[in-house]
Amino acid sequence: MIEELNDFSSFGLDDQSFSPEVGVPETSADPRLPNGAALAVVDADQAVRDYLASQFGEGVAASASMGELEARFGMGPIVVVLGPSCASPSDLATVERWSSTNPEVGTILVTSELTTTLLQTALRAGVKDVISAPIDQIQLIDTVGRIASGLSVSKPQPAGPSELDQIEVDGSEGRLISIFSTKGGSGKSVTATNLAVSLARRSAKPVVLVDAHLQFGDVAVMLKLQPQHTVVDAISQLDRLDVAMVHDLMTIHEESGLMVLPAPLEPAFADQISGAQMVQLIRLVQSFAGHIIIDMPAFFNDVVLSLLEVSDDIILVAGLDIPNIKNVKLGLATLALLDIPREKLHLVLNRADSKVKLDVGEVEKTLQIQAAAHVPSDVTVPISVNKGSPVVLSSAKSGVARAFEQLAGRFLDGAPVAEKSSTRRKFFG
Ligand SMILES: Nc1ncnc2c1ncn2[C@@H]1O[C@H](COP(=O)(O)OP(=O)(O)OP(=O)(O)O)[C@@H](O)[C@H]1O
Ligand SMILES: [Mg+2]
Repeated sequence: MIEELNDFSSFGLDDQSFSPEVGVPETSADPRLPNGAALAVVDADQAVRDYLASQFGEGVAASASMGELEARFGMGPIVVVLGPSCASPSDLATVERWSSTNPEVGTILVTSELTTTLLQTALRAGVKDVISAPIDQIQLIDTVGRIASGLSVSKPQPAGPSELDQIEVDGSEGRLISIFSTKGGSGKSVTATNLAVSLARRSAKPVVLVDAHLQFGDVAVMLKLQPQHTVVDAISQLDRLDVAMVHDLMTIHEESGLMVLPAPLEPAFADQISGAQMVQLIRLVQSFAGHIIIDMPAFFNDVVLSLLEVSDDIILVAGLDIPNIKNVKLGLATLALLDIPREKLHLVLNRADSKVKLDVGEVEKTLQIQAAAHVPSDVTVPISVNKGSPVVLSSAKSGVARAFEQLAGRFLDGAPVAEKSSTRRKFFG
């Protein structure tokens, strides 16, 4: 993209500072706009980013990706000027998610070539205005000011029982999907990270991944994240936690926009967290997220049982060998005892083509459950784990990626959530 934009004169302007007309001092380190809005520019190319930022003077936040910028959301209104690299379908899908979930964010797209299709797609995604090169600086500044004035600025919602009560009865909370197995190393975290990243890329609403393997969670490593906060920070502030705060505690996976709440850095912290606390936290996350994926350890404890109980869907991950199948069978029996409805369960057969040659049909018959996905055994998986980049991103065309994408499709629009009813059915009979 930078090739087309290398000639910055095509933007038609010299470097100038922000116009006083929108009430921003020329040397401001924090160029506040009407409504107290902040200003940010995003473009993958640093030169383009710098050029756009220079149109507004100092103090403009510049990000290489929309995901990176998302980390500051919840800190007040913001106008985001998107550079030409953000005209891609995936970035416009992010705009759509922002506009449907966050009235405090307004976006402007700057493009090197304006076509009718791009204009229509951008406006439909929720971009407030599209400006094409060469840039008219006055027009750009006016547009930013106009969009800032039009932002619907809300005060952070107060935390407390009233909000949590409302979420309980609301019925429109995000879909809670737990990834579970009673066999260690069966592929839960690989499934959780790939499913979550796929959903985040395809879903209009925020997608959150929570690592509930509190002692040895490795979701952050698998996504190559360096989290500032973990589940422990959220739980320790639970009584005063609100949507904006929980938002701020998440680490953003830049490539997908996925929000991640990782496991504690010290295994010892795990003991301090109860199932009831985790459920309270998850309820809060459900109030703004479209999907919440929870990665679990391979055993039942208070946290696991509480989360399984409130999950809309439980994905059971099983490898294709006798110990795995035996463990899944025991796990199913325990879930049945817990009165968890059978329709919540989805079986993922991992390494489904492995050399062990257990017959998939036989396994499904034994477990009395049909597999929702067959994930092949593939060296791309350990490679992706070591790289910290999920297969759906690093080997998008592989059979493994296709299996996870297809699994994610089951949880996107139109896919029914297992009915939340008090008339729970048991597994067998
Ligand atoms: N389909 C696959 N093909 C090849 N290797 C795989 C596949 N799925 C998982 N693996 C390998 O198995 C290892 C264990 O997977 P993962 O960490 O997802 O298991 P887990 O169930 O989360 O384990 P734990 O119970 O310890 O949390 C991964 O590091 C990965 O390299
Ligand atoms: Mg794991």
